[in-house]
Amino acid sequence: MTHPASPRPFESAEGNLRAPTGDTISAQILTIDQDRWSASALDPASIAALEAGKVLYFPHLAFTLDTQESRLLTPAVHDPKVRNISLSGERLLKGALGDTATLVALTAMIGRFQEQARQLVDGMLPHYREHLRMAPTSYRPTKVETRVQSWRADDRRLHVDAFPSRPNRGERILRVFSNVNPEGVPRVWRIGEPFDVVARHFLPRAKPYSGWQAKLLNALRVTKTLRSEYDHLMLQLHDGMKSDLDYQQDAHQMTMAFPPGSSWMCFSDQASHAVMSGQYMLEQTLHLSPQQQYDRNTSPLAILSRLTGHALI
Ligand code: SIN
Ligand code: FE
Repeated sequence: MTHPASPRPFESAEGNLRAPTGDTISAQILTIDQDRWSASALDPASIAALEAGKVLYFPHLAFTLDTQESRLLTPAVHDPKVRNISLSGERLLKGALGDTATLVALTAMIGRFQEQARQLVDGMLPHYREHLRMAPTSYRPTKVETRVQSWRADDRRLHVDAFPSRPNRGERILRVFSNVNPEGVPRVWRIGEPFDVVARHFLPRAKPYSGWQAKLLNALRVTKTLRSEYDHLMLQLHDGMKSDLDYQQDAHQMTMAFPPGSSWMCFSDQASHAVMSGQYMLEQTLHLSPQQQYDRNTSPLAILSRLTGHALI
């Protein structure tokens, strides 16, 4: 496998379907007319779409900043040594730069997004409510296009989310995003093919799991907990996708421009995605046991267990 340093340019226009089977691919996004963060339960078809790995897109659901907060729309508040500005559930702010007033304002703004994102998920997905575990909220004020990263950290390449140091044994990664760009700049994503298609493509070339290697990585504290076979395979998919430039170019995919004033939500461990451009976004991650899904058979854990024919955790 080769790991070239930078991806080839992608010939993509906003909203342009690249795959001949445009209908199937555009079905990876479901648009929902929702303009408030207080929401009622989604209909079963929308829940099934989310749990099938589709992106739920809310074109009219805006995270609105007040005048004071608008001055936080500058990359100057971001410590470049840290990937994103983040706010923990305990309201601990990390990765931010500025005077006390700026840090207080950032905490308030990101904290408000944390509450609204939680309110949205609680309202739309009531069965999850008791079982969600909140991860830190992130604010991303840097321009995506000019970020310099290794191929593995480069989210401009299609991937499913999986993190080398944080094994999760199948726990789901549900994410809510809002574009807060003040200059009309969309957040442009590519959205790829369904998870089972990705898994069928990359599993045959995945390196086999090694129990002793997982133990070694844990002993050396490369991982925070023991990497399960599930975690290993998810990383193999993540790395397999990102390192394969032909796949990046040729996989069925669509480009989607999320405009400022819109929000979207997906299981990012399942939806193949890449961010191509944009600046100023808020993001909330919520974790959920796959056992607590409406339909647990749709999780990456269930799909990978079916494809490999054995238990993975
Ligand atoms: C990602 O999760 O890969 C990045 C999403 C974004 O920053 O828009
Ligand atoms: Fe990602």
